[in-house]
Amino acid sequence: MIDVCSLIRALNDGKPHTGERLARNFGVAQMTISRGIEHLKAMGIEVRAVGEQSHRLARRVDLLDAQAILQSIDKRTRAAVDRIEVLPEVDSTNAHLMRAGIAGTAAGLVCLAERQTEGRGRRGRVWVSPFAANVYMSLLWRFNGQAVNPGRLTTGIGVAVAEALTSLGATEIALKWPNDVLWRRRKLGGILVERAGYASRRIYFVIGIGLNVHMPEHYAPKIGQPWVDLSMVMNGATPSRNEVTARLLQATIAELVLLEHGGRKDLAQVWRSYDCNLGRPVALRTPQGVQRGVVMGIDADGRLLLNCGDRQRAFNCGEISLRSVT
Ligand code: BTN
Repeated sequence: MIDVCSLIRALNDGKPHTGERLARNFGVAQMTISRGIEHLKAMGIEVRAVGEQSHRLARRVDLLDAQAILQSIDKRTRAAVDRIEVLPEVDSTNAHLMRAGIAGTAAGLVCLAERQTEGRGRRGRVWVSPFAANVYMSLLWRFNGQAVNPGRLTTGIGVAVAEALTSLGATEIALKWPNDVLWRRRKLGGILVERAGYASRRIYFVIGIGLNVHMPEHYAPKIGQPWVDLSMVMNGATPSRNEVTARLLQATIAELVLLEHGGRKDLAQVWRSYDCNLGRPVALRTPQGVQRGVVMGIDADGRLLLNCGDRQRAFNCGEISLRSVT
């Protein structure tokens, strides 16, 4: 099977290409090219036949490019990145880096995928991950100093993502505790932090970020909740996926470096400026049952603060779901 990204790169000039020429350039049989084209179509890339012999792409495909991303991040961030791996397809970038972590891979590995076949969200949900449409990024990270609180990590990354999107020109970006990135109460992105570690090795974290950029409309029924993508948020004036990825990566690494030194002092305050439920009455589902209260923000450890009438209670990041009562 021919590498789909190489095939797209060959077709990305928008001109018609004959199967014969493509086969010669790739050093493969014409049948391999035909299969590659069928594979592109099956992944939702629109390929048009031109006459009997040629094909062209209906529109340019915005592919990820590790070099372009590296060039768009500052020196400090680059120093913290061991390597950026761009995969045409993977089960899940988080699962991939969890495996890399077990194998002892150094911190700072960044994994990006054009497509995830088993993209995972929080609490066992599926993260819909069509080809070359959105950002699916994971980072493998080991903290050197003190133990880092997972709640502070997840909410800190949430704030970093919200700030990165705002700096790109997106407005009304909001956060829903603990890990949702929203716009007008519709899901734009999510964060999935996973932790592993064995007695002989230091604990490591995999920080996964999914962001809808150009979600094809026909994927809507698979999503199962109100959603939005960055092109709707930015009215079509969307930066390339490489630029979005670079901005997210830079913000995430800056946050991780900060966390290594205790984290932001003003985390709770900055979170409040993005919290879509601040001051709202909510129902919080916990393994112990449903708790009702008014959202008061988060504490310094990223725990949700609920005013439950008689007293304020803090909830950590476990198996908790939040539902607005409207
Ligand atoms: C959520 O809101 O439920 C979290 C979604 C996290 C999705 C990202 S996409 C990149 C990384 N790989 C995964 O399989 N999941 C995360």
